[in-house]
Amino acid sequence: MKKIAVFTSGGDSPGMNACVRAVVRTAIFKGLDVYGIYRGYEGMIDGDIKRMQSHSVSNIVQRGGTVLKSARSMEFKTPEGRKQAYENLKAHGIEGLVAIGGDGTFTGAKVFFEEYGIPTIGCPGTIDNDLYGTDYTIGFDTAVNTALEAIDKIRDTAAAHDRIFFIEVMGRDAGFIAIESGIGGGAEFVMVPETKTNLDDVVKSLKNNRKNRFSSIVVVAEGDEAGNAQTVMEIVKGKVNDPTKDFKVTTLGHIQRGGNPTARDRVLASRCGMSAVEGLLAGHQFHMAGVVNQQVVFTPFADCIGKTKPLIEDHLKLMQILSI
Ligand code: F6P
Repeated sequence: MKKIAVFTSGGDSPGMNACVRAVVRTAIFKGLDVYGIYRGYEGMIDGDIKRMQSHSVSNIVQRGGTVLKSARSMEFKTPEGRKQAYENLKAHGIEGLVAIGGDGTFTGAKVFFEEYGIPTIGCPGTIDNDLYGTDYTIGFDTAVNTALEAIDKIRDTAAAHDRIFFIEVMGRDAGFIAIESGIGGGAEFVMVPETKTNLDDVVKSLKNNRKNRFSSIVVVAEGDEAGNAQTVMEIVKGKVNDPTKDFKVTTLGHIQRGGNPTARDRVLASRCGMSAVEGLLAGHQFHMAGVVNQQVVFTPFADCIGKTKPLIEDHLKLMQILSI
């Protein structure tokens, strides 16, 4: 293998740049030609592909977003789109790919590999932490800390006015951001999609808390089956039925996707990027390079997207015990 390409795809996450940098520099270190594909699968179809040098990735390790830009491509879901993408890769002589993204990215990579056989290694880039085959995903730690900072600030004003806040965090169908920011932020209750929430339990918890606390925070994962933070707040408010209580909703939204990556994300991203190139050279073909128990592990795409990563049991227990 002499020529490889790297791209970022799906929702951007802090640390993607550090990962791109690691892929580019490791490839050059190993004597490969390396290309950057812009706007993910969209750019692969449009031929938006440029040769990268070591200096192309200078001064990006600390930056959020992705210098390669990202997209969620509908065209790549069509056989015609994938054929065009293959033709463009072939024209550049690209023999291996590094795909940085989440489950949508790997689903595309798996289909593409099955059709055209270009070896592809994934790096887990998503704030959601919802990928099987790695303890943490690139961007998760930064997103949790952003959510935590927001929760701390909301706590100040909540306490000043003796209010109840419902704070919605991202995570798609997973509750990792919710549970960790909830534990760190001392939330009174956390609602995650992995467990069925009984809203009467939320009411009970708020009533208990109101006896001796000045504020209450309920963290709601965006994917919770009970609904979004606004819906949940309205139901709970109706059940509490006390006009003296003041209920507020804050949706943190895309603020969780931006910002300078934490040290932990930069190191994880660098490690996955380096391992992806080493994996390609070692003959891995359709695997994600993740880190499990401090060790780099290569997991087939089918498992990364097909198996569910559970929340840490102790985190659920912690929430229950520490919010009494
Ligand atoms: O997968 C990352 C993520 O930020 C999810 O947490 C969220 O549900 C989704 O992407 C939002 O996607 P978009 O930026 O396309 O609205």
